[in-house]
Amino acid sequence: MASDVPEAPNIFDPGVAACPQAAYRTMVDECPVSLMPLTGGPIISRYEDVMFALRHPKIFSSAMEAQMGLGTDRPMIPQQIDPPAQTKYRKLLDPRFSASRMLELEPSIRASARKMIEVFADRGECDYSKEFAIPFPCEAFLHLFGLPLEDLSLFLEMKDGIIRPQTVAEDPTDLEAVANVRAASGKRIYAYFEDLIEKRRRDPRDDLMSFLLEAEIDGEKLSQNEVLDISFLQLLAGLDTVTATLGCSFAYLATNPEQQLRLREDASRIKGAIEELLRWETPVVGVPRLIKQDIEIGGASLEAGQMVILLLGAANIDPREFDAAEVVDFERERNRQIAFGGGNHRCLGSHLARMELRVAFEEWHRRIPAYHIKQGETPIYTGGIREVQNLPLVWDRE
Ligand code: HEM
Repeated sequence: MASDVPEAPNIFDPGVAACPQAAYRTMVDECPVSLMPLTGGPIISRYEDVMFALRHPKIFSSAMEAQMGLGTDRPMIPQQIDPPAQTKYRKLLDPRFSASRMLELEPSIRASARKMIEVFADRGECDYSKEFAIPFPCEAFLHLFGLPLEDLSLFLEMKDGIIRPQTVAEDPTDLEAVANVRAASGKRIYAYFEDLIEKRRRDPRDDLMSFLLEAEIDGEKLSQNEVLDISFLQLLAGLDTVTATLGCSFAYLATNPEQQLRLREDASRIKGAIEELLRWETPVVGVPRLIKQDIEIGGASLEAGQMVILLLGAANIDPREFDAAEVVDFERERNRQIAFGGGNHRCLGSHLARMELRVAFEEWHRRIPAYHIKQGETPIYTGGIREVQNLPLVWDRE
């Protein structure tokens, strides 16, 4: 790669992750391809270039090393495989995750949201992350798989062990201990799903696992490993992403009372607000790809074998694609935000995610009066997936 490619701001640093838009803007304007600090891997930031990469899987491949240490040495399906195999899985899964199918889950997911909000509504404050943003998507996941809600705390524990093992390990600085926690959690999740497979083979239901056990590709049933690898990815892809989106969106609303008021005055603005906050906050900052052939892009020469990051967050505020890109406008027309990615790997769970978010926004603003961040507290964001770890909210008791 050309040696004059500049180093990017460290967008994975928690300080930058708290408010990354200025760094994105510099990258989009001044260095459409830059280098990751520490790893030196290239980052592509302009909308047009990111979309090109997402749409050309033969050049920008998703088939990369399986997540060793996650309790599996096989690729996650369908995220870590390329077409044509990936297309076959998507043809099978897409109808099952359609907008209309996801609406069938809405009543039970709404009931979960109401129940959780009711616990703290009269208290006048809550720890938004712990009491809502983390457990709510987890309960939605239990509804999706037809699992008992009593398994909530077990799921939260398994999920943390795999996604945030440092929060579970006794010493978070002991890398070996952290890796062991992660590997053990991976094995535990696989064992949980193996057990569920047995149960659903004996007693099929109208849920995702029973569907996977009956599903066929090219006239053949999915193997046990395929069912496991699909289920495992659902857990990794479907929980923290929604948690992060809720955290980023509510931190924004809590600090922008005039925008909050717009939603309170007219709930029909909620859908537009969700799309705009997905664009502006882009909780999944970027997606990785493996370059399969040398290519010129964004004024830089990239080489086969390099790992590259497609920076969705920066693309989403690229003024070449979005008018008034730095204005957060809940009524924005033609919002082609790519917080769910694009091309063949575009998020399988986007309809489920949008429904969860809409239900959360509606139920929250129906029950909770004007809210803000507790005085003296500062939200803390993680890098990579922008989860807000500290978000104490307060409101007047009515
Ligand atoms: C607001 C919440 C969410 C965001 C921001 C989000 C974001 C993304 C992004 C950016 C990708 C593309 C990855 C890539 O190109 O490599 C993706 C893929 C995926 N997402 Fe989501 N996601 C969300 C919620 C969910 C949910 C709720 C589920 C399922 C329960 C889910 C399941 C998946 C799966 C299975 C893939 C892989 C699709 C494939 O490779 O064909 N996501 N998501």
